[in-house]
Amino acid sequence: MSGLFIVFEGGDGSGKSTQAARLVEALRTSGRTVIATREPGGTRIAEKIRQLILDPQNLELSDRAEALLYAASRAEHVHHVVRPALQRGEIVVSDRYMDSSIIYQGLGRGLGADQVRDLNLWATEGLRPDLTIVLDVPAHFGLERVGTPDRLELAPREMHERIRDYYLQMAASDPSHYFLISAEQTIDAIADSVRSRVDELLALHA
Ligand code: TYD
Repeated sequence: MSGLFIVFEGGDGSGKSTQAARLVEALRTSGRTVIATREPGGTRIAEKIRQLILDPQNLELSDRAEALLYAASRAEHVHHVVRPALQRGEIVVSDRYMDSSIIYQGLGRGLGADQVRDLNLWATEGLRPDLTIVLDVPAHFGLERVGTPDRLELAPREMHERIRDYYLQMAASDPSHYFLISAEQTIDAIADSVRSRVDELLALHA
């Protein structure tokens, strides 16, 4: 595949969606063809699954069914949007991808990071991002919210620490695929760093 798959991850209040939009705009301005998308969602059926999962009336949704629905929505998204765009040589920028499932369902719901990763690798036929940009929120602000309190597996602070540990580990073991950046900077400063990191990737890819 000749395109590039870039994913933004980060918790509530990290500014992830703003940064994804900024990168898309910058890449388009430089003449690149970019698909901006998000998860859960990104296709008609995936958006329906999104409504189903996020509907507060569906609180009885079991943890495993929730993980399967996220994976089903991702399978749709990859099959119909992400992979075809990459095959056309385009850049895909997605707001969240399978690390969100590993974190929220695997760690948050206690289903196991490895099992949730395997499920999602199956769902996507092994499609991994070329680069995952993680907006890192220090523990003292914007504690991660994981669904509704009655379904919490871990206390917010512990969850937050687990998420940070996960990304620190990923960034340390796989630095060419992960870019961790502190969310405690101005929007412009973060956007500039992200842009430089993506430019490096584009140069390697050329
Ligand atoms: P959304 O409104 O898109 O929130 P955000 O701005 O935080 O991205 O809601 C997505 C929610 O779904 C968010 O709380 C994280 C959760 N989620 C999972 O639990 N697993 C997943 O695989 C994905 C993609 C999202």
